[in-house]
Amino acid sequence: MKILVTGGLGYIGSHTVLSLLENNFQVVVFDNLVNSSEESLNRVMKLTGKTVTFIEGDIRDASALDKVFEQHDIACVIHFAALKAVGESSNIPLSYYQNNVFGALNLLEVMAKHQVHNFIFSSSATVYGEENEIPYVETMKLGTPSSPYGASKVMVERIMADYAIADPEFRGVSLRYFNPIGAHQSGEIGEDPSGIPNNLLPFLAQVAVGKRDKLNVFGDDYPTKDGSCERDYLHVMDLAEGHVCALNWLNDHSNFNGVEAFNLGTGNGTSVFAIIKAFEQATAIKIPFEVTPRRAGDLPAFWADAHKATTQLNWQATRSLETMMVDTWHWQSKNPNGYL
Ligand code: NAD
Ligand code: WQD
Repeated sequence: MKILVTGGLGYIGSHTVLSLLENNFQVVVFDNLVNSSEESLNRVMKLTGKTVTFIEGDIRDASALDKVFEQHDIACVIHFAALKAVGESSNIPLSYYQNNVFGALNLLEVMAKHQVHNFIFSSSATVYGEENEIPYVETMKLGTPSSPYGASKVMVERIMADYAIADPEFRGVSLRYFNPIGAHQSGEIGEDPSGIPNNLLPFLAQVAVGKRDKLNVFGDDYPTKDGSCERDYLHVMDLAEGHVCALNWLNDHSNFNGVEAFNLGTGNGTSVFAIIKAFEQATAIKIPFEVTPRRAGDLPAFWADAHKATTQLNWQATRSLETMMVDTWHWQSKNPNGYL
């Protein structure tokens, strides 16, 4: 069964491609390399001993997508390709809507032209916005995220819902990721941010490896147990396996039409201070840090209600916080400069 993975060279995409290959799916990766390197795929192929077709192209280019569907018999699309820096999205919102919304629309149109109905979308916990209470449950209404990035995810979920009503053959799954961290246990593939990392774990790992002096903890006066923000961190390999479960779910539910959303998280919140402690305990490396003012747009705490994925997708995050820390460090120390 051939799966088209857009954005398959990126952080979550590369780990998912590895999981797909391990589960005997054939994979075609489509990526424009805007935030990734082909080296991730070379390593995935080396780790699995399997080959992947790579096509360099942009999801906004309908004729390039057309060729992919003409040349390959695609059963399902897993759509990762997007821009993902929350802060940057406020500076260049049009680029974010172009890539994330227009890109997804273009892809859905080309899929429709080629009669491909199965679509798994990389959504985010950010779609619950600021108004929903924690833990987030899939039955809640879509919220109002504070960034254009978050809004782009809400828009694509809305487009999927409207499209499913108009095309009774459409079979969409929206996977709402919480905070993926860590790397494959080999230390061969992992997260390779360009420039200064925006996210907690990539920044912390660069402090650990000596590339940055200290970690800034964005606020210690939140209404949480220790004053720092709490998030639902999950291992990227658990997340990758969630995509295989979603594919199997689509295959097992041949009568399903419409759109179904699933949270992919652990169901637990962990604070920034607890992350620092867990990393120090797992690696015996001290992390210098300083408390700085809150970062604009950060919510105090959120985590998933993960029951729906457990009961319906037969998926559960199994890797511990310690494993997440060990694997983050393994990747960072083995590849201090990423894929370069
Ligand atoms: P990433 O940047 O590592 O991967 C995205 C990939 O898409 C990159 O390889 C990039 O080159 C490619 N890409 C971007 N725009 C493209 C375009 N127009 N055409 C073709 N390829 C394009 O990001 P990631 O962390 O792996 O995230 C994957 C997906 O998951 C994204 O949709 C992201 O919004 C979503 N997501 C990520 C997180 C997270 O914390 N990393 C959380 C929730 C949701
Ligand atoms: C985690 C916590 C920060 C960096 C983002 C997106 C979300 C999703 C996942 C895509 C927060 C604190 C961070 C640092 C810090 N992405 N922090 N010092 O903001 O929960 O989620 O990535 O969909 O949509 O918003 O993740 O890793 O940036 O932050 O103290 O240098 O770490 O304040 O509490 P976030 P993050």
